Amino acid sequence: MTERIKIDKLLKTTEPQENVLIKGWVRTKRDSKTFSFIEINDGSCLKNIQVIADSTLENYEEIKKITTGSAVSINGQLVPSKGKGQSWELVGRRVDLVHLAPDDYPLQKKRHSDEFLRSIAHLRPRTNKYGAIFRIRSELSFAIHQYFKDKGFQYIHTPIITASDCEGAGELFRVTTMPLDDMPLQNGLPDYTRDFFGKEAGLTVSGQLSAEMFALSLGDVYTFGPTFRAENSNTSRHVAEFWMVEPEMAFCDLDGNMDLGEEMIQHLCRHILENCRDDIELFARFVDKTLFATLENIIAKPFVRLPYNDAVDILKKSGKKFEFEVEPGRDLQSEHERYLTEDHFKTPVIVFDYPKEIKAFYMRLNDDEKTVAAMDVLVPQIGEIIGGSQREERLSVLEKRMAESGLSKENYWWYLDARRFGSVPHSGFGLGFERLLMLLTGTANIRDVIPFPRTPNSIDF
Ligand code: 4AD
Ligand code: MG
Repeated sequence: MTERIKIDKLLKTTEPQENVLIKGWVRTKRDSKTFSFIEINDGSCLKNIQVIADSTLENYEEIKKITTGSAVSINGQLVPSKGKGQSWELVGRRVDLVHLAPDDYPLQKKRHSDEFLRSIAHLRPRTNKYGAIFRIRSELSFAIHQYFKDKGFQYIHTPIITASDCEGAGELFRVTTMPLDDMPLQNGLPDYTRDFFGKEAGLTVSGQLSAEMFALSLGDVYTFGPTFRAENSNTSRHVAEFWMVEPEMAFCDLDGNMDLGEEMIQHLCRHILENCRDDIELFARFVDKTLFATLENIIAKPFVRLPYNDAVDILKKSGKKFEFEVEPGRDLQSEHERYLTEDHFKTPVIVFDYPKEIKAFYMRLNDDEKTVAAMDVLVPQIGEIIGGSQREERLSVLEKRMAESGLSKENYWWYLDARRFGSVPHSGFGLGFERLLMLLTGTANIRDVIPFPRTPNSIDF
């Protein structure tokens, strides 16, 4: 029995091979009187391998009926190809049909719009572009783990079901076993004491609060997992379920935090350029002609670091008409963020020291008592890709901030404990994994970099 070989590996061979076995799906087929050319893809790489099936094959009548999308298993001889753009081809000795796809297979050879492909998200990974996206997504995941491993970070699995709203934005999806059509009530409100956890629970919006506990125990840690937000913003940069990478470092201030965010993004750009060349080239050719220039620019020089107040000044003086007016004390909108990184500086920008009113309770209060040690990393095409901060490590200041934000000390007793016992300056951030993929591939819509996107009114598949 010949062992099956993946096309990626097969195309890297340096010698002709007498007998190889491949399995995959038919991308296209051309028939002439005496033979058929069949292009096979098995998902292991962007490239197809061309199979020549001669009419002398015993089941040639069946082979002629093979359609686009069908699954096949092929034994053959690997020989140098005479065709251009390919080094090897397979002369079929046995061509077995595993499953015949009927003619209504939706991915016939022509270009399909991203919108159409979203409507068949279960089949789109069989196209060149989406196959490439999801291979890059896989490589990027491993690269992130490797990056942290090399730096001595421990990988922590923080819970997905939680009772705390880390960002305080009220965007939690509820988790309950109480009957929704017959909620036990107490004073007209759901009585969560009778719910599964005896408390109101939801899906996590961030693993940060748990990660902090582990940073204050194991030193440098990170989480990398699914994150959920019930924000009803139907934009090209938001999904309700996304993956976030969250490093958290003990004995680290805001500068160290910014250093890590910058180094990590640059490292991952470099890694993907070096390790996913074929797949990235597809995006540079068909999706975003400026992709290589953008990525090389990100790697080439340090990111600009800009206090929030200076960012507001630049935006005010820009003379540009924004949909949302720029006001000191207000959060930056994505149009403002993009102006800073795309037009003004033409490089990634880290905005830091935001007004405390627009940021979460856990961020460290600066000496001016007006701003907090927050930082957002902004990149071209996307805007915010990282949100992070130095954390408030002083118990009394934190308690005051929580009271101002309407959070109960009782619910966060364990979080406050961390400030009672060996509290240290510490910092961390959240990197949106899908947004990073958008940056790396020049993809304009976040729905196209996640296997099955969850957005308002959309949860098929
Ligand atoms: O800025 P955010 O809300 O920060 C936090 O949640 C912190 N607790 C993280 C931390 O310090 N450990 O979110 C972090 C990043 C954003 O910059 C963005 O890239 C991404 O997560 N993000 C989303 N990505 C896709 N869809 C959404 N709805 C997102 N919301 C945030
Ligand atoms: Mg943010």
